[in-house]
Amino acid sequence: MNYRHAFHAGNFADCMKHAFLVSLLTATTRKPAGVFYLDTHAGIGRYDLDSDEAQRTGEWHNGIAKLTNPPESLADYVGLVREIGMYPGSPAIIRARMRPQDRMACCELHPEDSAKLRRLFGRDKQVSVHQRDAWEALGALLPPAEKRALVLIDPPYEATDEFERVVEGLKLGVSRMRSAVFAAWYPVKHRQPPREFHRALRASGIRDVVAVELYLREPLDAARLNGCGLVIVNPPFGFEAVAAQTLEDLIGRLGSGEAGAGFSVERLTDE
Ligand SMILES: C[S@@+](CC[C@H](N)C(=O)[O-])C[C@H]1O[C@@H](n2cnc3c(N)ncnc32)[C@H](O)[C@@H]1O
Repeated sequence: MNYRHAFHAGNFADCMKHAFLVSLLTATTRKPAGVFYLDTHAGIGRYDLDSDEAQRTGEWHNGIAKLTNPPESLADYVGLVREIGMYPGSPAIIRARMRPQDRMACCELHPEDSAKLRRLFGRDKQVSVHQRDAWEALGALLPPAEKRALVLIDPPYEATDEFERVVEGLKLGVSRMRSAVFAAWYPVKHRQPPREFHRALRASGIRDVVAVELYLREPLDAARLNGCGLVIVNPPFGFEAVAAQTLEDLIGRLGSGEAGAGFSVERLTDE
């Protein structure tokens, strides 16, 4: 486990993932019933962009730093980042939008990172932090007592079979709770792995899956993060149109005019 998110916090991929997370949170909290949030790969919760790690890569300069004056589609996300102060990871974003009737479980396998996350949430009764394997937790923590759930799956893709694990994780999660909303992030380096991932999802039997992707440039170099994607299972009503606007606004601000920059919204399976 070499991946440390502190080097990448606030980069373009975080902006994309977290902007969609905020919009999914808004949709899940529209009804009064309590929601269970499961963050399977939680990281440390929030990030100091002045830290050595963040300064060393400077990735956030091409991410959150470019989102001053956000358009309407990104205003909620950028507003929340400003409100929190440090750059929020997914647990801090979810926690900021939770209501008293909601609950969150965060899984983080790295011992130091899970200890940091545990310290962040202290005695918060609505949050539980587990030093636990994400894929095992998906089977163990679903279904929750709550009738509604949002699950974020955000692995580091260090393992060569991570795309396959995500497909298996989604199949397991959906088999445990058909109605939950699942969002799984993935890197787009070269076109081939995401295409195979989509093909596997189409063949998986999981219904109602949409994939959104953002490209900074043509995804031709397998050694470089050229873009990223998110698959959503059970997206909220009207998601595709809203997503297209969000992605257009993101690429307008985060892209630097390289050939092949753009986005896509693709329905992989029907409801
Ligand atoms: C991309 S980072 C998570 C970032 C976080 N979701 C966010 O948006 O702020 C991935 C995290 O997953 C952790 N991790 C890796 N393998 C794991 C596993 N099998 N189970 C749980 N956590 C894992 C890593 O230590 C790392 O902190």
